[in-house]
Amino acid sequence: MPSNILYDLQNDIMLYCRDFMKYIFVANWKMNVLTHQVVDFYNNNKNVLETLAFQNTIILCPSFISIPPLANAIKNSSIHIGAQDCSAHLNGAYTGEVSAQSLAQAGVTYCIVGHSERRTYWNETDEMIAKKTEQLLSAQIIPIICIGETLQEHEQQKTKSILTKQLELIVKLAQKFSVKELIIAYEPIWAIGTGVTPSIDYLENIFNWLYTHITTQISRNTELQLLYGGSVTAASAIIFKTIKHINGFLIGGASTTVESFKSIIADK
Ligand code: PGA
Repeated sequence: MPSNILYDLQNDIMLYCRDFMKYIFVANWKMNVLTHQVVDFYNNNKNVLETLAFQNTIILCPSFISIPPLANAIKNSSIHIGAQDCSAHLNGAYTGEVSAQSLAQAGVTYCIVGHSERRTYWNETDEMIAKKTEQLLSAQIIPIICIGETLQEHEQQKTKSILTKQLELIVKLAQKFSVKELIIAYEPIWAIGTGVTPSIDYLENIFNWLYTHITTQISRNTELQLLYGGSVTAASAIIFKTIKHINGFLIGGASTTVESFKSIIADK
């Protein structure tokens, strides 16, 4: 068969499969959305969000304080609530901290850990992130573990060695807890909030590598979900969805309005 026909065929098959793939969309609202806006986001767009959640996993991550009102609004819904962080401790004298157990009680089923903003501004280490992950797993919350390299590391071609280190303790925990679902979000720091996104070739290479690197270290019973994060828009998401091993997106800025969030999810 001529190679151009083969290429078209491969593309058609991929687009066809994409229509049936259940993607994960995580809205990381950081400190940008107030409680009334969080509740309005859901209440004013209930129908569209529920329709999208039928085919996709949608996880909304507001600030801690907005979690109970959102949980109340989304009762009997297919939308999930995620937290943006949690304590590395089970309980105790840790003023200002929020434990994984209390998040679970509030209705949280997913939690972002190791976001680069926490690694940078709060000096979170891989060890602290592993402790948080352990607390989440004990509380039956699915962690969304963020990894990624700085621009300098990227330019020095250190990406894979940085990611290897960031993943080291996490894969051990996945084994220890026999986790059913392991969610890793690759977010190159130079792409977060900058409007810059990596090239398709670059992402293909990284996601292939991540997939092999992680699956060779975890049990076959653990389902690995790889997300991409960093300046995701509807225009970039439609392209990135064609990349093998990208199972979803962690979205910051573009998740704060329903219009852009919806267009990222519903572009198929
Ligand atoms: P961004 O943020 O989409 O605004 O780049 C992504 C993130 O920080 O998770």
